[in-house]
Amino acid sequence: MAFPENFITELAERNDIVDVVSSYVRLGKKSGSNLFGLCPFHGEKTPSFSVSADKQIYHCFGCGKGGGVINFVMEIENLSFPEAVEFLAKRAGMAIPEQAADKDAKKRSRLLDANRDAARFFHEQLGTEAGKAAVEYMQRRRISPKIARNFGLGYAPDSWDSLIRALRDKGYTDYELLDAGLVKRGKNGGFYDMFRNRLMFPVIDVRGNVIGFSGRILGEGEPKYLNTPETLVFNKSRNLFALNLAKKSKNGYIILSEGNIDVVSLHQAGFDSAVASLGTSLTPEQARIISRYTNEVIIAYDSDNAGVKAAQRAISILEKLDLKVKVLKMQDAKDPDEYIKLKGPDAFRNLIEASEHQIDYRLGQITAKYDLSSDEQKVEFLKEASELVAKFPGSVERQVYAMRVAQMASVDARLVQDEVERRRKKLYSQARRTVNRENARPEQSIQPGERRLRYEDPSSAMAEEGLIRLLYLDGALAKGKELPKPEDFSSQALGHIYSAIAARLGSGASMSTAVLSESLTNDEMGLLVSVLQKPEDLKNGERSIRDYIEKIKQRNELKSDSTDLRALANKLRETKKYEG
Ligand code: GTP
Ligand code: MN
Repeated sequence: MAFPENFITELAERNDIVDVVSSYVRLGKKSGSNLFGLCPFHGEKTPSFSVSADKQIYHCFGCGKGGGVINFVMEIENLSFPEAVEFLAKRAGMAIPEQAADKDAKKRSRLLDANRDAARFFHEQLGTEAGKAAVEYMQRRRISPKIARNFGLGYAPDSWDSLIRALRDKGYTDYELLDAGLVKRGKNGGFYDMFRNRLMFPVIDVRGNVIGFSGRILGEGEPKYLNTPETLVFNKSRNLFALNLAKKSKNGYIILSEGNIDVVSLHQAGFDSAVASLGTSLTPEQARIISRYTNEVIIAYDSDNAGVKAAQRAISILEKLDLKVKVLKMQDAKDPDEYIKLKGPDAFRNLIEASEHQIDYRLGQITAKYDLSSDEQKVEFLKEASELVAKFPGSVERQVYAMRVAQMASVDARLVQDEVERRRKKLYSQARRTVNRENARPEQSIQPGERRLRYEDPSSAMAEEGLIRLLYLDGALAKGKELPKPEDFSSQALGHIYSAIAARLGSGASMSTAVLSESLTNDEMGLLVSVLQKPEDLKNGERSIRDYIEKIKQRNELKSDSTDLRALANKLRETKKYEG
């Protein structure tokens, strides 16, 4: 039984793996963004069962079991895939949809095509008489033609039907355009353009598909922005504006801002790792996606009250994923766009360098919670503040902040410093125990936990794992490359996982353990998850993927060489027979 993919994806999203696992396993001890507990699938006394909140997977370093939330339920409740899906759907209060998986994939690619054609149409308008208003607006906002081209900005004409007519000519039906969120339906049943007289920002996913649009009014007016509604391909809580560009940046950090204009302006000023959420505050899914590309986020939200509040929310979401978070303090300007225009890119760069570590922000928040004139509250304040300071990596910083905390509570600095170091030692020994556990058996680090899947050729298997990992994390890396065939893999299990992933690359479908679990066995799923857990530097993805492919192909060339030699030897022997 096949389920529509967006249903499976949503199912997994609505059943957070930490929540689901927690109802069976006591999860404690944090290490990175992983939670540890005693494995429910084999007897053990020290926890080697980990759950990753950001990757939404579980993995046992002891027995090698692992997978996404659906696999977990299959294993622990002993259910088949459709039964586990039903179980989780009930849990999340979702109805099981009609079976229409294939139609779904076709529909999806049709909607992506319509969006791409719409983006082309909007962009072309900039060169026409009708587009003059938008070109002038961009000049006023100092958006250069070059950056407008990079972002694929465009103009939706001030007309009820210019897009709909252009796309009908390309063969799209009105209903397809309705489903793509490009047109609306009037009371009289007629269709009309959704975006009119607006500057258009295409939203492009990390694989390069145009999935929707934000349209800004030219100048003042309400609503300022109009966004594509939720469609089969557009989900605003799971995508970020400009991540398609930012993911290629050489900066070691992502700049998170609020406005589309801010993002464009930042890129234009050379800050090419700026992104924005799509008209909502940052969601946990977006944070998870960001964490695939960087481990440091700089928040550059508007400087008004709403921006400060939004920044606080974003910090708490981001730090759950163990991302390093800094907050920019912009004075004399309402947002990054205005700041750069007022003071220039260098001033903004200084701001980044001076940006506050979240610790200042957090310390401020903790202080605000307590009344320090009460002794009782002062004790609570000292506990919470010391715990925070203890997590700070540099010893100088810890001392400085410990002194600051002591001053605030008017107690002896020594006292706070001792408390901080005591908590620090505790954190450290926890972390060391986890690392020791992970490094206990080095040969295990490449061999799968499940014996049946043992690698015969570990060095090729490493490349095979790497290729799987990269394609899973960033399907766009496949573009323009001659990928190996599943049969070229030395490990049959990896080959099978690879073919499941490769099959999804072309279709613009999303990659998740949830959707893959339908075509993989539980053993393979466990293997996939352990492969995904290993570190991969997406920044150097282009080079790594070439190396991996090369390595896999090399092995096969060697293999076919030796078969050729054997064939030749056989032939010689046969000839001899005849001669002899
Ligand atoms: P400027 O005023 O030109 O600086 O615009 P901006 O792009 O910086 O946007 P602003 O800071 O006003 O808003 C931040 C983000 O909130 C925008 O990029 C939109 O995604 C979203 N937003 C703003 N206004 C609206 C609105 O009226 N409707 C919706 N749905 N989203 C909005
Ligand atoms: Mn703004």
